[in-house]
Amino acid sequence: MRHVGIVTGAGSGIGAACAQQLAGTVDVLLLVDLDEAAVNARAAALAGRGAACEPFVADLTDGLAVADLAARSRARGTLRSVVHAAGISPTMGTWRRILEVDLVASARLVEALRPLATTGTAIVCFASMAAHLGMDPSRVAAEAVLDDPLADGFLEAYCAAVGETARDPGTAYAWAKRGVQRLVGREAITLGRAGARICSISPGMIETPMGRREFEQQPLMQALKDVTPLRRMGRADELAAVALFLVSDDASYVTGADILVDGGACAAVATMR
Ligand SMILES: NC(=O)c1ccc[n+]([C@@H]2O[C@H](COP(=O)([O-])OP(=O)(O)OC[C@H]3O[C@@H](n4cnc5c(N)ncnc54)[C@H](O)[C@@H]3O)[C@@H](O)[C@H]2O)c1
Repeated sequence: MRHVGIVTGAGSGIGAACAQQLAGTVDVLLLVDLDEAAVNARAAALAGRGAACEPFVADLTDGLAVADLAARSRARGTLRSVVHAAGISPTMGTWRRILEVDLVASARLVEALRPLATTGTAIVCFASMAAHLGMDPSRVAAEAVLDDPLADGFLEAYCAAVGETARDPGTAYAWAKRGVQRLVGREAITLGRAGARICSISPGMIETPMGRREFEQQPLMQALKDVTPLRRMGRADELAAVALFLVSDDASYVTGADILVDGGACAAVATMR
């Protein structure tokens, strides 16, 4: 049986770096992105690197597209590795779009791929250090809402639980990524029964189109970089190396965990507090 890998957000940044690393580990690699030109270029660049790379153009907030992706994966073979790196950051959308792309679409993708999971299947989702850096006191109520992102009325319930800052894109991003960490914890219990695993990675400031954009537009980023013990932004290939480890058999006892890959930024902030 052929082994299938899926990388979302494969057209840019961390997803592109993950696609490059995963191409040597599976027979078929589905490269997913809503940017058609970028994902086609990535598939062309990876030709001859091992896996047969197939571009799959989709907006992951579209439930039908996600169902098609699961069907394509099933048709190609046994699902082995999934790296879900598609996402948007605070300066890239409204609070509503951020929650839909970063949390609701993640939950829908995990739900659609669940029936394909079998012994050895491993999934990595991308959260963020934003979900580690300071949450407000409404956390308990908000987390209960975050735990059901596919419920009718989810966005309204989120606004009610988080309160007046809920519609701030930065706040929505942090809560969406907190929701991803919690999704991974819950899903690990379900997937474990099939011998499958799921983890999240929380990146710090990473040199990608998204990371550079946030750095340029958010004044706090320079201060955060200054206190980061490694004194620099991370590289996409440094995140891809961790993702590759987590989907490999070397990580066969790691599941339900969030791995912080931030150059020590959160540790430095916690120590200063
Ligand atoms: N770069 C950073 O500093 C940083 C920090 C923390 C977390 N992250 C997270 O890491 C992940 C990867 O980020 P990146 O820096 O590579 O970003 P990026 O913007 O460079 O790449 C993201 C890719 O996702 C695709 N995408 C966005 N929305 C989509 C959708 N609805 N459907 C399908 N594809 C979609 C984009 O077209 C793009 O190709 C994201 O989840 C991001 O939130 C990044």
